Amino acid sequence: MKKRIAVLASGRGSNFQAVIDAIQAGKIPAVCAALITDNPKAYAVERAKKAGIPVRVIDYTAFPSREIYEQSLLSAMQEVNADLYVLAGYMRILGAGIVRAFPGKMMNIHPALLPSFTGLHAQRQAVHYGVKVSGCTVHFVDESLDGGPIILQQAVPVIDGDDEDSLADRILQHEHECFPEAIRLFCEGRLEIVGRHVRVK
Ligand code: GAR
Repeated sequence: MKKRIAVLASGRGSNFQAVIDAIQAGKIPAVCAALITDNPKAYAVERAKKAGIPVRVIDYTAFPSREIYEQSLLSAMQEVNADLYVLAGYMRILGAGIVRAFPGKMMNIHPALLPSFTGLHAQRQAVHYGVKVSGCTVHFVDESLDGGPIILQQAVPVIDGDDEDSLADRILQHEHECFPEAIRLFCEGRLEIVGRHVRVK
């Protein structure tokens, strides 16, 4: 049985594209039921249209308060009724009300080896810190900032002379492998959350 997934993205959407490609290639037993974005100008919207995926725009700037924006986002997510909500470069922190509504059903990709370099500009943080290895992490979302149970990680070397952009590009190649793989495992029913640990069955 195919799972229903919904993708939340705010920008370029290259991870979204990697997920679309993996679904179309038959590698993930899922249908992508919706793209939900906070940014009507996101290139991810073009990608969705090209793939025939319905788009819901919940434009943060169009709401009088954060509470009302979050209520609207929550309703849109509930209407999609997905088995899994995938944060593919969704650049707004989701409030506790949204996170609690979908326990164990929301995944995020982060461009660093968590728990290092949480929050925004993770690649810049890694370059500034001087680490020799960074990478990407796919994790379940809980109420902490980038702190939920880890599903997959890939390490990526930081090379002398790297700047934020060169490191981000290198990490991105790995994100495009890691994210569809984690989604595949979920959709095959092979992920089990045990406390902080994610077991792959
Ligand atoms: C990706 O590098 C993703 O890991 C990062 O934003 C980029 C989105 O690229 N996400 C975060 O930093 C979340 N805190 P994309 O739009 O091309 O997928």
